[in-house]
Amino acid sequence: MNPLAKELNELLKTSVAYRLLSETGKRMYFPKGIVAQSAEATKKATRHNATIGMAYEQGKPMILPTVQALTAPFSPSESVAYAPVTGVEELRQLWKKELLRKNPLLKEDRISLPMVVPGLTPGISTAADLFVEKDDIVIIPDMFWDNYELIFKDRNQAQIVTYPFFNAQGSYNLEGLKKEILNHKSKGKVVLLLNFPNNPAGYSPTMQEAKQLADLVYQCAEEGIDILTISDDAYYGLFYEEGTETQSSFAYLADLHPRVLAVKVDGSTKEDFVWGFRVAFLTFGGKGLTQEQFDALMVKASAVLRATISNSSRLAQSIMIRVMKTPSYGQEKQAKFQILRERYLKVKEILKKRKNGKALEEVPFNSGYFMSFRCNGISTEALRKRLLEKGIGTINLQDQFLRVAFASVDVSQLEDLYEEIFRTADELSNQK
Ligand SMILES: Cc1ncc(COP(=O)(O)O)c(C=O)c1O
Repeated sequence: MNPLAKELNELLKTSVAYRLLSETGKRMYFPKGIVAQSAEATKKATRHNATIGMAYEQGKPMILPTVQALTAPFSPSESVAYAPVTGVEELRQLWKKELLRKNPLLKEDRISLPMVVPGLTPGISTAADLFVEKDDIVIIPDMFWDNYELIFKDRNQAQIVTYPFFNAQGSYNLEGLKKEILNHKSKGKVVLLLNFPNNPAGYSPTMQEAKQLADLVYQCAEEGIDILTISDDAYYGLFYEEGTETQSSFAYLADLHPRVLAVKVDGSTKEDFVWGFRVAFLTFGGKGLTQEQFDALMVKASAVLRATISNSSRLAQSIMIRVMKTPSYGQEKQAKFQILRERYLKVKEILKKRKNGKALEEVPFNSGYFMSFRCNGISTEALRKRLLEKGIGTINLQDQFLRVAFASVDVSQLEDLYEEIFRTADELSNQK
């Protein structure tokens, strides 16, 4: 093992973070190679900087005139230059400030500085590389974003176990979750994936459920289980009902128990409606972790990034810095939120009035982009295909749930969409 990796492991040794590291995570270190030497030279090489793989002209990164014209408000350093592996410092600070504002439970010294990653997906897979080992247990609800399988199971060879997301009363099945964690007590380690608002269910916990969730994680940690929680907050902020918890699960977990390491993955992707920009963040939190240990974890995470995506788009980060500093930022987001909320309320109204489509049982939803129907007695795939023939696209998940992304359909079109879904479900039911 590289001596630099050993040094980082030594630093982490007294914390849950070390026990949770995968073998890959243990081997990670940031080489004193090109990137590190070049960063050193940026500060000290005042005469000539002949380090990095970027071409310069009169002290500025070279830029094609057309690229300059198209990115006019930004200097070449803000547009075409490489960004640091962990992201542009100003953006990281801005995001941290926002995190603290949106999550009053968070304490500044209990979390790391967010690291920039090119989308939530690489944020999740970086955490997986650091902490998820072959045969580790990753617990997710039975309604989940299908990419988790590819990341945790097929790529990192972990075992995904699911629990029913909702209990018989239609509430968040916290008992089921606790049971599932305790089922793996003998392993001494579990990974808990928390995704609110959930894709595909569109559900977020109530304030009471959020608190109960933290309590049950605490109780399981007290049983001697090391727990890595990954809060996938892709749809954070789209909470449409009073009483829904508006703070991230990460805010409850970041200072909970010395056996809990909390990871937050979030980003501009959906929060700022810039899906293709690829700007997201990875943040660590944990009770008892020192600043030095947060730094060591960030070095290990930056090593994974250096080995995979290397760094994220500078231009997209520069744009987001200016966007976040614009006084109307909050108002602009609020306006888009209202449009999505209006669609959500319309869907609720349609469901309340509906008279057909009885094979479709709605799954509880209160937030996010989606809602799902459980298909009873008809094939979800047959329904999806029949809808496609009628020019309507929906998603079949696990041949059990039909996911409808109401966030992507204008409010005026929702009646038509749902009427057709119900009618088509009835056609299939009647054929039996
Ligand atoms: C739950 C969830 N997490 C993460 C992502 C991916 O986000 P990104 O596009 O930033 O990689 C998605 C996108 O659909 C998602 O639904």
